[in-house]
Amino acid sequence: MTQLPHGVNEELADKIRSVRRTIHEHPELSNREHDTQALVWRELTAAGIDDVKEVADTGLIATIRGGKGPGRTLGLRGDMDALPIQEATDLPFASKNAGVMHACGHDTHTAIVLGATIALHRARAEFAGELRCIFQPAEETEPLGGRRVVESGVLDGVKGILSLHVDPAIPVGKIGVRAGPLLAGGQEITIRVKGTASHAARPHLGADAVLAACAIVQALQTIPSRRIDPLEPVVVTIGKIAAGTAKNVIADSAMIEGTLRVLDEGVRTEVVRLIRELADGAARNHGCTAELETSGGEPVLMNDPGLTDLIRRTGHDLLGADNVVEIARPSMGSEDFAFYVQAAPVSMFRLGIRNEALGYTHPLHHPEFVVDESALPIGAAIIVESARRFLDGKD
Ligand code: NI
Repeated sequence: MTQLPHGVNEELADKIRSVRRTIHEHPELSNREHDTQALVWRELTAAGIDDVKEVADTGLIATIRGGKGPGRTLGLRGDMDALPIQEATDLPFASKNAGVMHACGHDTHTAIVLGATIALHRARAEFAGELRCIFQPAEETEPLGGRRVVESGVLDGVKGILSLHVDPAIPVGKIGVRAGPLLAGGQEITIRVKGTASHAARPHLGADAVLAACAIVQALQTIPSRRIDPLEPVVVTIGKIAAGTAKNVIADSAMIEGTLRVLDEGVRTEVVRLIRELADGAARNHGCTAELETSGGEPVLMNDPGLTDLIRRTGHDLLGADNVVEIARPSMGSEDFAFYVQAAPVSMFRLGIRNEALGYTHPLHHPEFVVDESALPIGAAIIVESARRFLDGKD
């Protein structure tokens, strides 16, 4: 391996790989990252980093102060949780926890941010300002760690936050950057429909919640197609309907569950308002009522142009311009790093991990998902060098 700058040398690359493999072998679900937290804490302590505190129960924050006095504060964030998926790779360090797998690469994010934290700690005499390195639990499921970290106040005073996500669509050796929206904002929706039960053969004596629910699902599809500017991406997906008790009874209730995705917070407000209005109207048309509940959901992940350009230029210098992919379109997936937007400007870059020759091409959340580990020191070097430039005030 060629020497990457600022202390991401072969010794540290080995450390990142071995920590990553240990975490991969012992994956933990959201908000249960106890062993992962303990491992990261041990590694930080072993590296001489002693200002480490618990955050969001199973997460950690490590603070590093530059030796050149006060300056700007930068946050780094890696997520730590795994998914309820049975691993189907033949890796020697495949998951030992049945039904749990690091299929979204959060093991690599934790190890890379740990490696970057160690490299920056070793170089702390050379910069001013402060680093807050977050090892965040529960990116995948509520209660989301990103929200809890931001609400805990540990990011107060931070002027920028960097993070990364592995990307099996981008070849190893490259990174992907994008200013503006990178990932969609989401929201869970539940609509409870109330009707009146009656005999199936005397429908006029009841109010059919099944019919009302079907009408609501149809009506909601007119939101993206007829009510929102077609140039504004919106997804309204109903993934589940539950209703009725018997085939010869008019159902007196139905429950509709789904999710929405937007790339603009104003559009989200309008879509939620329209869902309420259309569900209410469609239910009334059938003599029923509808009640909308929204819950959870991530904000839109808005990459700050300045921070994104910092990563882009760092990528150009370390990897060459050809190896910095400009991501043309945002994704309608969502990610809880978006909550950090509420604390400071943020930027998340994508780290290429695809290797066609080795067959590492499976998508995220797939049981055969495999990472090309030669990406690990590249991710760490991009973070370390971007952090150095930010703290040196050159960006
Ligand atoms: Ni992920």
